[in-house]
Amino acid sequence: MAAASAIQAAPIDLIIDTDPGADDLVALFLAMASPDELKIRAITTVAGNVRLEKTARNARLAREWAGREDVPVYAGAGRPLVRAPIYAAEVHGEEGVTGVEVHEPKQPLASGNAVQYLVDTLGAAPPHSVTLAMLGPQTNLALALIQRPEIAQGIKEVVVMGGAHFNGGNITPVAEFNLYADPHAAAVVLASGVPLTYLPLDVTHKLLTSEARLKQLAGVNTQASKRVVDILNAYITHDMALYGMPGGPVHDASVIAYLLRPQQFSGRRIHMSIDTREGPTFGQTVADWYGVLKQPANVMWVEEGDAQGLFDLLSERLARLK
Ligand code: RIB
Ligand code: CA
Repeated sequence: MAAASAIQAAPIDLIIDTDPGADDLVALFLAMASPDELKIRAITTVAGNVRLEKTARNARLAREWAGREDVPVYAGAGRPLVRAPIYAAEVHGEEGVTGVEVHEPKQPLASGNAVQYLVDTLGAAPPHSVTLAMLGPQTNLALALIQRPEIAQGIKEVVVMGGAHFNGGNITPVAEFNLYADPHAAAVVLASGVPLTYLPLDVTHKLLTSEARLKQLAGVNTQASKRVVDILNAYITHDMALYGMPGGPVHDASVIAYLLRPQQFSGRRIHMSIDTREGPTFGQTVADWYGVLKQPANVMWVEEGDAQGLFDLLSERLARLK
């Protein structure tokens, strides 16, 4: 009798929306090194950590460095829906990716705007079939939903790196950067009723680098792993100094790890709202963890993850890249 083979889950039909961004680069490497589990339809880019022309360039760089120039990259929204644009060059460097030299990648952007790509793709997709990994401000998806609300039918799940509850924010005392950079867009996505999973700072601040983990990545000894180590060594200094943490977070890579190894994460379905009022709580995610408001749950709020599991997975996958 042949041994029962492990039941392989069907590959995830995936669009990655991103504002690379140092940790976005790590997430993109991890995703593009996982073709059996993640069928990446496209990378859509948005202004966030740095301006759109640089986030779009950096996404093209990521696919060139990962040997995945089969993945189209689209440029999307160059500014938030309502608020004045903000950036995080002090964290990610003026070029948007710190610790490595950048250049103009060979392969150009795909023609057409990312928002129109989302409208066309999600509108034509089979019901509840496409997963979106949102690694930056949610402006592109919000604009697509505003333009054609019925595209929600094509969405299986939206997995967001964003938000903060238990331990406060990283751009204000209460708000996390991706939400703060475009809270109105996040509110549009939340109101659309699409299946939403958030990986907030509550979990990403538990999945930290360490000397040993950086050594583990360096030991993979590929050009891609060297780039990731150089990027992380430069990127983590800001948060380690700011929070006095023993290591730095790899926020966006946590989303890809969640898609690849959901069993390594846990959380709770809760009711969440987003504050879009100007003032000290602008961009705050109000996570009703104990259900005191007796409101229906509208997000899966992930707050635990396997830190060593993430770095083991990242090491294993980086070994596949050159
Ligand atoms: O707050 C962390 C998030 O904001 C990450 O996605 C990082 O890349 C920045 O976009
Ligand atoms: Ca990001």
